[in-house]
Amino acid sequence: MTVSPRTDKIKLGAFIHPTGNHVAAWLHPDAQIDAGTNFEHYVEVAQTAERGLFDLMFIADAITVRDGDVNALKRWPQYMAFFDPMILFSGIAARTKHIGLVATSTTSYNEPYNIARRYASLDHVSGGRAGWNVVTSANASEAWNFGREEHYELNERYDRAVEFVQVVKGLWDSWEDDAFLRDRESALYFDPAKLHTLNHKGRHFSVKGPLNVARPPQGHPVLAHAAASDVGKDVAARTAEVMFSHVPELEQAMAFYADMKARVAKAGRAPDSIKIMPGLNAIVGRTRREAQEKHQFLQDSIHPDVGRELLSNALGGMDLSPYPDDQPFPDDVAERMMSHKNPRYFHMFRDRLTPREMYQHYAGARGQRTVIGTAEDIADQMELWFQSRAVDGFLVQPAVLPTGLEEFVDLVVPVLQERGLFRTEYEGRTLRENLGVERPVNRYAHEAMEKTAGAPV
Ligand SMILES: Cc1cc2nc3c(=O)[nH]c(=O)nc-3n(C[C@H](O)[C@H](O)[C@H](O)COP(=O)(O)O)c2cc1C
Repeated sequence: MTVSPRTDKIKLGAFIHPTGNHVAAWLHPDAQIDAGTNFEHYVEVAQTAERGLFDLMFIADAITVRDGDVNALKRWPQYMAFFDPMILFSGIAARTKHIGLVATSTTSYNEPYNIARRYASLDHVSGGRAGWNVVTSANASEAWNFGREEHYELNERYDRAVEFVQVVKGLWDSWEDDAFLRDRESALYFDPAKLHTLNHKGRHFSVKGPLNVARPPQGHPVLAHAAASDVGKDVAARTAEVMFSHVPELEQAMAFYADMKARVAKAGRAPDSIKIMPGLNAIVGRTRREAQEKHQFLQDSIHPDVGRELLSNALGGMDLSPYPDDQPFPDDVAERMMSHKNPRYFHMFRDRLTPREMYQHYAGARGQRTVIGTAEDIADQMELWFQSRAVDGFLVQPAVLPTGLEEFVDLVVPVLQERGLFRTEYEGRTLRENLGVERPVNRYAHEAMEKTAGAPV
């Protein structure tokens, strides 16, 4: 059976790690060295992504510094000093016009009222460009900043997340779209029939409402998720409109795509109402050699303390101290590690890589997909994944910022456009319109509509 080529377009997000995604990015002379707390740097990156007609810019978050061996941490700035993404995006909103602004907030260490208010406000401030990456906190150390000794276990945190999102959505519907009359003649500011009090009482939250912000321009800001567990993917299938992931192989990505679309359908939603966008570390050169040299510079810059820390974490906390950087692991150790059958590192032991080769292989992009080559090489890979229905788009993670994104925009985007795979102008005004996901109808207006439609004539 032949599958017809897709007629929709690739979606693009820019995943911004301040100095770049590569673990040694900050050591590259092109990197903005103080990027984590340099506002103008973020503005420059946002404007570049917007010049490249990206759907969205995405910022991950944790409410903690990175936890680990300080000898490694002192050589790796990521997640050590960085802005609150909501504050950052409020500033960026004023300096951009089209690009979607997707920030991360955890449901584990926040309250729904605050989150509903912040994202509704960002949606207004940006003219309908806000998105919320709903996470349950990947870093257990966040617990220690919020009066807990231990992080919630997986099922508990997703149980809380489901109720959290339900409350936030309810609060966003507090005001119907046309609730504010602002009519001087009748001296009526709003129509009380179009103001709704949530009165939520659940297992985790008790929230009366209503929200003190008018309904967001997008109805609800766009909801993104990045879950990987079964429980997390089921929650995403019920609520997410954008799904981020890290899948390095095409077959794995096709399986993930089919699985998520099936879960979405099972949850009673149209499969197209969620856009699947895995990470893509694209290292672009004007020639293949130039691209390889860029990558090699970064790989060679990984400090052994950082490489070993990351490798040890990936290997479940394995003590690497007995093993020198440049000798393969002894046979019995390699065999023991292979018996775990974890595909993430099985092949590294099978191929008898040394610790240095392993951490160079793993640490640079933390096992995520890296594609190195000319603009055509990268566009070929993107086209293959898109046409294979492995993705709806990509979360581009430039290795070094700001230059990695500039190169992607100047070199790869025009090739995608020439091939008819990517937009040549923004289709809409809001993030929802550009992504092609529906604006939700206010639940109360919907109920009223249904009552009218069902009333006898
Ligand atoms: C692209 C991507 C971005 C993520 N961003 C964050 C983040 O900013 N903060 C966070 O706590 N977790 C983040 N995560 C982790 C996920 O939310 C999730 O916890 C992880 O994929 C494991 O899935 P699970 O929660 O279903 O076990 C991210 C994951 C991916 C793939």
